[in-house]
This record gives sequence, structure tokens and C-alpha cells, in this order.
Amino acid sequence: MTSGVGAPARASIPARTLRTDRWWLPPLLTNLGLLTFIVYATVRSFMGKWYVVEQYGYLTPFYSPCLSESCLPGSSHFGTPLPELPGWIPLGFVALPFLLGFRLTCYYYRKAYYRSVWQSPPACAVAEPHGSYSGETRLPLIVQNAHRYFFYVALVVSVINTYDAIVALTHGLGLGNLVLLLNVVLLWAYTLSCHSCRHIAGGRLKHFSKHPLRYRAWTLVSKLNVRHMQLAWTTLGTLVLTDLYVMLVASGTISDLRFF
Ligand code: FES
Repeated sequence: MTSGVGAPARASIPARTLRTDRWWLPPLLTNLGLLTFIVYATVRSFMGKWYVVEQYGYLTPFYSPCLSESCLPGSSHFGTPLPELPGWIPLGFVALPFLLGFRLTCYYYRKAYYRSVWQSPPACAVAEPHGSYSGETRLPLIVQNAHRYFFYVALVVSVINTYDAIVALTHGLGLGNLVLLLNVVLLWAYTLSCHSCRHIAGGRLKHFSKHPLRYRAWTLVSKLNVRHMQLAWTTLGTLVLTDLYVMLVASGTISDLRFF
């Protein structure tokens, strides 16, 4: 190895690390958390049932927008411009690739999986297994530079999810409505706390004093931005919680708690 920790100018230490603490625990927990979400989301996306409760207007975010004639009644808030789809295509396929791209290219998730999955490096003062480093200048990591464009699509998806939650409110009020609303509020907080959003709000300015509105927007986004990591994990949890709740009600496993 002629670069990284193996470069000639670096101290020659045969051990991968001299750390004796449990440095491997954070990367392990990150891997477990991401893996759990990926397995759950994949299974649910291909399940093709129990994603809508027509009676109460609940629609899981994993199937929104549902634009195919294969969609169950009550799930197509924007019509069905697409024909019936074979079972191997997830009904939420219009938004899912972009949402996946948004999360995968997110600055926080990059940090998380570069350490835990890519092992580059897995922890401070722990040598990485790679012999060279090309950063985000080559495929596949050069795609990370498209994060801003995934952000624009994520904004549209947040509007769609908000619309879904409002549609559900026209059927009355139940616990499911509160779950949908909580999910939407946190999704907005996560989306607006994005580093690209912060740059769009206040970047490329020489004088904040000449752009008071953008300064105000940048200030608000910055306050959210410091919580971006927490929001990244919380929204993974609320997405699963929302989908799980809709699935349990739709399948008849539990009844929705109705307030009126
Ligand atoms: S940096 Fe995380 S969503 Fe943009």
C-alpha cells in the first residue's frame, strides 16, 4: 500500500489500530439501523397490499403517489395515468428511486455509510482497508454531486405526502391522522434541514444585509440544519411507523382509534 496509512511518510505501525475502546460499536449500530430500514422498505414496497385504508383515507408514504391502474381504490390521489403494472414493479416506483437517491447522497448519510459500510475510515485512528482514495471524483461516488437535484424532487414528494395527510383529514380524525401528520412534519423538517437547502437559501451571497429575506430563510434553515443527523434517523423511524400503522389497520390486525 503506497498511499493512505501505507504512504512512505507515515509511521509504520503493523496493527490496524492501537485503539482499545469499542470504536467498532457506532459503525455496527449504523449498519444495523440502515439494514433494518432497507429490508423493511424493500419488503413493503414489493408487497403490493395493505397500503391504503379507503374508509379513513390513509395512504402509506411508500406507495405515494400511486399512479397506476393497479392501485387499490382510494390510493390514487392524482389519478391513474399509468396502465396496470406487473407485480415486480413497486407501485410507488415514481418517487422511490428519487427518495432513495436523496437519502443515499445526503451529507449525513454519506458520513454514516462511508464509515460503517465503506470503512473509509471506520473510525478515528483506525486504518481503512482501501489502498487508494479518489473521493467523489469517479463513478459511483461522483453521483453524490447530484444531491441538490434529488433535493428538488424530495420537495415535491413532501408536498405530495402533505396532500395525502390533508386528504385523510377530510375523512374525520383518528390516531392514523396524527401518525400521518407527525410523519409529514418531520419529513419537512428533515428536507428543509438539508445542506443543499441551506446553500440555496443563503449561498453565493456577498452581503446578507442586502438580502434580508434570504438571510431570514438561511437563519431558519441553519437552526434545523444542526439537527440534521437526528432528523435523518427520526424520519426513517417515522416512515416505518407510518407504514406499519397503515398496514396493521388495512389488514384488519388493529382498529384505528377514532376521535370523530
Ligand atoms: S444533506 Fe442530508 S438531505 Fe441534504
